[in-house]
Amino acid sequence: MSSPAPQEFAANPVRGRFNSAFFSVMGGYINWHMHQHKSTVFAGLPRSVVEIGSGVGANLRYLPVGAHLIAIEPNPYMHARLRHAARRYGVELEIRSVVGERIDLPDASTDAVISSLVLCTVEHPAAVLAEIRRILRPGGRFSFAEHVAAKPVSPTRWLQRILRRPWAWVFEGCSCERDLTDLIASAGFMSVDINPYRIHSPFVPFNAHIAGTAIA
Ligand SMILES: C[S@@+](CC[C@H](N)C(=O)[O-])C[C@H]1O[C@@H](n2cnc3c(N)ncnc32)[C@H](O)[C@@H]1O
Repeated sequence: MSSPAPQEFAANPVRGRFNSAFFSVMGGYINWHMHQHKSTVFAGLPRSVVEIGSGVGANLRYLPVGAHLIAIEPNPYMHARLRHAARRYGVELEIRSVVGERIDLPDASTDAVISSLVLCTVEHPAAVLAEIRRILRPGGRFSFAEHVAAKPVSPTRWLQRILRRPWAWVFEGCSCERDLTDLIASAGFMSVDINPYRIHSPFVPFNAHIAGTAIA
């Protein structure tokens, strides 16, 4: 039996601060690898968007000018940098310090949900996908850019396996071993379009990616 979806995020003062600083410093580099795919899946977003796990604001640049973003971001150590980034990009920001498994928004209340590098980290990705589907209006769009398990029996997959424990410890629960393609495809969306791709970074376990959209 699967464990129930968590209601709270266990913030860690040391790793929380480290990850906030890490994504602030490395965000440009990571985004350089993902930019082409993000530009495609985040194109044409409406002015009002919900983002799961906004971190320090890697995706604010893809929102339309004057956008209103509801950021589902339970890690308090991300909030100051996220607010700073929102001011920089002219985004009206509303932070909700809740987990993606229990979003405090009504059913069918938004047209667009986005995420990047989050379904690897949340405790229950299936519960988060169910919440995304719940808050989207019929026809609404979930746009995502995530990293995933590499092809079976490949050197990258082997490294993902070997490094899984220290990686998850440093990056607050992040798993490089999730088959998010199947999970998103079977999450009950009306239609799903997923594009697998590979980046070439020295963080080898992180190099297998998907980007796509799912329509509620
Ligand atoms: C690897 S960071 C990615 C941040 C940002 N989206 C990016 O692309 O740089 C993962 C983010 O997910 C957040 N997160 C972790 N668990 C979560 C949960 N259960 N619900 C929502 N967000 C969560 C973390 O606080 C962190 O900001």
